[in-house]
Amino acid sequence: MGVTEAAAWVTWTLLVSTVLAYVVYWIHHRRHQHSLFARLGISYVPPHLIYGSNHTLRGRGALATKVVGQWMKQYGKVFGYYVGWQPNLVVADLDLVREILVREFPTFANRPTLVIDAQPVVDSLVGLRDQRWKDVRSVLAPTFSVVKMKYYMGGVINEKINELLSIVSKKVKRGEPIEWHATYQGMTLDVICECALALKTHCQRDQDGDDFFLAVRQFLRNAVNTAILLALYFKVFAKFLSFVSNRLAYSGRMTMMIVNHLRTVITNRRRDSSIKHMDVLQLMLDEAENTQPSDKDCVAEYNSKSGIKRESKKLTDEEIIANAWVFLLGGFETTANTVTYMSYLLAVHPEVQERVYQELCDVLQDSPEELTYEQVHSLKYLDQVFCETLRIYPPAVNFVSREASKDIQVEKSFRFPHVYSFVSRNTVCVIYLNNFII
Ligand code: HEM
Repeated sequence: MGVTEAAAWVTWTLLVSTVLAYVVYWIHHRRHQHSLFARLGISYVPPHLIYGSNHTLRGRGALATKVVGQWMKQYGKVFGYYVGWQPNLVVADLDLVREILVREFPTFANRPTLVIDAQPVVDSLVGLRDQRWKDVRSVLAPTFSVVKMKYYMGGVINEKINELLSIVSKKVKRGEPIEWHATYQGMTLDVICECALALKTHCQRDQDGDDFFLAVRQFLRNAVNTAILLALYFKVFAKFLSFVSNRLAYSGRMTMMIVNHLRTVITNRRRDSSIKHMDVLQLMLDEAENTQPSDKDCVAEYNSKSGIKRESKKLTDEEIIANAWVFLLGGFETTANTVTYMSYLLAVHPEVQERVYQELCDVLQDSPEELTYEQVHSLKYLDQVFCETLRIYPPAVNFVSREASKDIQVEKSFRFPHVYSFVSRNTVCVIYLNNFII
């Protein structure tokens, strides 16, 4: 063997041994991470080395509520499972849920840190943490007050619902079938785009030809993209995968398109303040303008992105854009799914449908043309049907998640370690109250 060949052999041997040593170390480390629940004496779903139990939970055709429900039958009301390396604790005991979400809220105020640095979500209510979340939440809460909802959103909601009714009645007259889910998606998207994103869309009218409608649906289908999944399984690549997800993945590019649109709208509105805009975006801009820095508000929080010290509750442009974007993500599919399921339940329970109809007729007696905000509020039975639909078909499963900020003893019996905790309020409803169909 020549010197060059020997050097190549040594190099290869070193390389292969290093890789092997790393793989052995990685497996050992992952097994240690996966031993957490066993060490704490909490029953848990046996994890796959790489995926944890995520492949079962999010696998093709899997329904999260069904999977968690099955696990609950097997492992009880409090049990653990892993997503990649990350320990999640399902809490399906109502008393414990109340303790966590209400009494011990200060310890459980944060959602788990996002697995990747998803832009712009990190600057929204979903991504912010600690004092900054509280500040932004307190600035945004008045945006959804009854009066503001009524004046700033009522008109748009009525207009879009009238459009929905006209589309549906035309189809009924022509004897065409109605794809209700897509129809409701179009309606909720039109409402949220106009209210929160200053975008006038026509997603109801031209469903097959509206590029924006198709892009948002595609976006939601790909929201948990491969980069996010890889980051869940291999934390070490999270930074690189953040870049891939934000810049290269379809969902990231689509998000950036809307972020840029919002930036332009904000600049234009600031340049010409003579026009009065009636939407949530304007409400956020006004709230941001009116929030004055004061000593009381001074906090030493750090911007999630830039690390700049914050001195007031005043929203930054990034936070306004991020929250407008999250209103779209949070409000579009949830509302469309709920109304779709409600329609389905009303169809299979005609006696309930009749009661809803009678209630509407009673309320509409005085003003048959259009429902006012107050009239909608007086529809008690409809409200019950809506809540029951949410209980039977919860659309935001797995989203009620919290991280314990310190070790804490809850309900004398259960000690939460300082790990990621996942509180499944929705799941509780589906599993335990499922027999009480309306
Ligand atoms: C039927 C419709 C909806 C359902 C079922 C639903 C469900 C939920 C759930 C379960 C949470 C988590 C609460 C928690 O962790 O304590 C949440 C949070 C949130 N939702 Fe909705 N939602 C709906 C509509 C909307 C709409 C229309 C918007 C926006 C206009 C919206 C924006 C948000 C935001 C921003 C958060 C995060 C709040 C925070 O962490 O401070 N949602 N939603």
